Amino acid sequence: MKYIPLAALALSLACAPAAQAQKKTALASASDQKMKAFIDELMGKMTQDEKIGQLNLVSVGFDVTGPVVSKDVDANIRKGLVGGVFNTFTPIAVRKLQEMALKESRLHIPLMFGYDVIHGHRTIFPIPLGLAASWDMAAVEQSARIAAEESTADGLNWVFSPMVDISRDARWGRVAEGAGEDPYLGSSIARAMVRGYQGPANDLTKEASVMACLKHFALYGAAEAGRDYNTTDMSRQRMYNEYMPPYRAAIDAGVGSVMTSFNDINGVPATGNKWLMTDLLRKQWGFGGFVVTDYTAINEMMEHGVGNAAQVSALALNAGVDQDMVGEIFLKNVAQNVQSGAVSKAQLDAACRRILEAKYRLGLFQNPYRNVSQERATATLMKPEFLAAARDIARKSLVLLKNERSALPLKKTGSIALIGPLANRQKDVIGSWSGAGDWKQAVSVEQGLRAAAPGLKITYAKGANIADDAQMLERLNAHGGELELDKRSSKDMIKEAVQVAQSADVVVAVVGESQGMTGEAASRADIGLPGQQLELLKALKKTGKPLVLVLMNGRPLTLAWENQNADAILETWFAGTQAGHAIADVLFGAYNPSGKITATFPQVVGQVPLYYNHKNTGRPYAGTDKLDKYKSRYLDVSNEPLYPFGYGLSYTTFTYGKPTLSKTAISPTETLEVKVTVQNTGAYDGEEVAQLYIRDLVGSSSRPVKELKGFQKVMLKKGESKTLTFRLAPNDLKFYNNDLKWAAEPGDFKVFVGGNSRDVQEASFKLAAQ
Ligand code: BGC
Repeated sequence: MKYIPLAALALSLACAPAAQAQKKTALASASDQKMKAFIDELMGKMTQDEKIGQLNLVSVGFDVTGPVVSKDVDANIRKGLVGGVFNTFTPIAVRKLQEMALKESRLHIPLMFGYDVIHGHRTIFPIPLGLAASWDMAAVEQSARIAAEESTADGLNWVFSPMVDISRDARWGRVAEGAGEDPYLGSSIARAMVRGYQGPANDLTKEASVMACLKHFALYGAAEAGRDYNTTDMSRQRMYNEYMPPYRAAIDAGVGSVMTSFNDINGVPATGNKWLMTDLLRKQWGFGGFVVTDYTAINEMMEHGVGNAAQVSALALNAGVDQDMVGEIFLKNVAQNVQSGAVSKAQLDAACRRILEAKYRLGLFQNPYRNVSQERATATLMKPEFLAAARDIARKSLVLLKNERSALPLKKTGSIALIGPLANRQKDVIGSWSGAGDWKQAVSVEQGLRAAAPGLKITYAKGANIADDAQMLERLNAHGGELELDKRSSKDMIKEAVQVAQSADVVVAVVGESQGMTGEAASRADIGLPGQQLELLKALKKTGKPLVLVLMNGRPLTLAWENQNADAILETWFAGTQAGHAIADVLFGAYNPSGKITATFPQVVGQVPLYYNHKNTGRPYAGTDKLDKYKSRYLDVSNEPLYPFGYGLSYTTFTYGKPTLSKTAISPTETLEVKVTVQNTGAYDGEEVAQLYIRDLVGSSSRPVKELKGFQKVMLKKGESKTLTFRLAPNDLKFYNNDLKWAAEPGDFKVFVGGNSRDVQEASFKLAAQ
């Protein structure tokens, strides 16, 4: 069910198409009437200051992601000047503050409790980029459901997730937090996450349902040059076709709240952008929940250069922001804004009402503690079923990028040289944004391997530091990196590792980034292995031993040498609490890898942004004639990625037949069926992610060379084949044209099916005019 507050109804109906309007009228149900009456009465008693107080979200706790921390929190709660709190959890801490609001504030309005629950709460799942690589929507939903059960048991009722920002730039550290580069897959994941958090019935009063917060609205992932918080400048057409779909999908799935983004969009900061939050989000998309800013994002509009404190405060409220995260700029300016006429009382009332509606929908007025108790927390947090699910979901997120000379799976006998700075790291496997996760309970690769193969001789050598730049390490440690710089020279560390390698049957090198080198404020201009890790690998290669790389990282890396020289490469992202067990399952073959990357891996950083669904250009380079100069290409590197979107290997092999179509021409209202037979032609049972892409060959605007429009994850026993049926519905062929009209255009289309975006079988069909 989508939230439609009555106040917004009249406004949104004015511009909604007829069908949408009908849906909304139906939703203005008796329970909405009851809520309206309740809130009318409550607001009738509120002073202006108390209304402004609801717009204030404070941070109490230890996780600080910006330069400001909240002060005088207790006093402000008592005065009714706080609407919600974040960074506080545990039944005891939450009860204490809730009790203060209920017993000591004049109107006893309960608080909301939010937190950055991004990929699990206490039980940590793979980082979102890894989760996406599972292409398994049930697994994604389950991870969010478990996070909802744990976070609500820990006193929370609001999570700052899902993060659905599309990104095509691996330099951006927050690529780790999203689903990658594709709007279709990103939309599916957005829906699965909202369902997981808010529950299948979308009833937020349920004890284990938590309100989700879609972020970061909008286009944060398109920050110029991949530098965090940087400007975004984009055509509306690109926004609508390529970047907005996942936000829209979460809204349509009924997400309860939306967080603004830090960036400006075509010159106007998102947090003060009326077109974005009122015209698009509320009027066109019919969003009826509330909008919270990102951390001090209103204040930051002063740095953006769009006004002083009073002006940016008015700008944000008038644009459609309801709640101010940490900045307290509303608290200090809205009264004056109302007095000067810069904002109307109605605008303030609308924002306050939307916050109260969220509290009402969470059932906080009836059940302000939502049954939190220490007993429930103890029985719920990290319970064995959750850990088992975390292990299974983690296995599904791992991607086999290379496997030659049958390097994998490993045998459980003989000896392994376990090398690399990440092999025994528990801190890093849980990844960034794992706030309430206890890394001391996480399983490192070394622990996982030893537990899985007690008979195997495993000798460890560090071989290199993750990074050697003392300043970078200091910065990372200032934010919880727990990284130690080995004082030995790089030469000595490599020498030791080579000695260990020489006396083993196989080398398993666990290399990559530390968790703090990814996530917020963790952009990198060079996306290769940091420090001396590549030098270490080169030395290990010289031993002639089979070389298996286990990568840990939160972004696509440049891995040209690694791809040329390693025998096997397993991408493990940051796989969460159970990482070590999940990685051991794959390395020893207890689980056959099935993940596929959802962000293109470039050959060199200079190719970035690199993505599969690009346009053809007027001078496409086919890659055949090497002397062909006047083509859209580089002089020094081909246009090809190192690993294309959707790519990932298995211990078995799959072959695809030619796709067959139910018709060669369809009308704009018909659905086309595409059938393809996939066979497991290798020696293991395994799962395959079959992907369907289309290309609209002629349009009023140039269309992408491929667009994902379907996928199915299928289990095939060795030798087995299955015929899969995909359906291309009329909407799948539509796009926003240059006038932002969403329509399919008649003409020729191609359809492709395969195990990644590059290696596909194709067929053609026509879309008729009528
Ligand atoms: C991040 C958000 C996060 C917020 C609260 C910000 O710095 O951009 O993603 O939800 O902090 O911690």
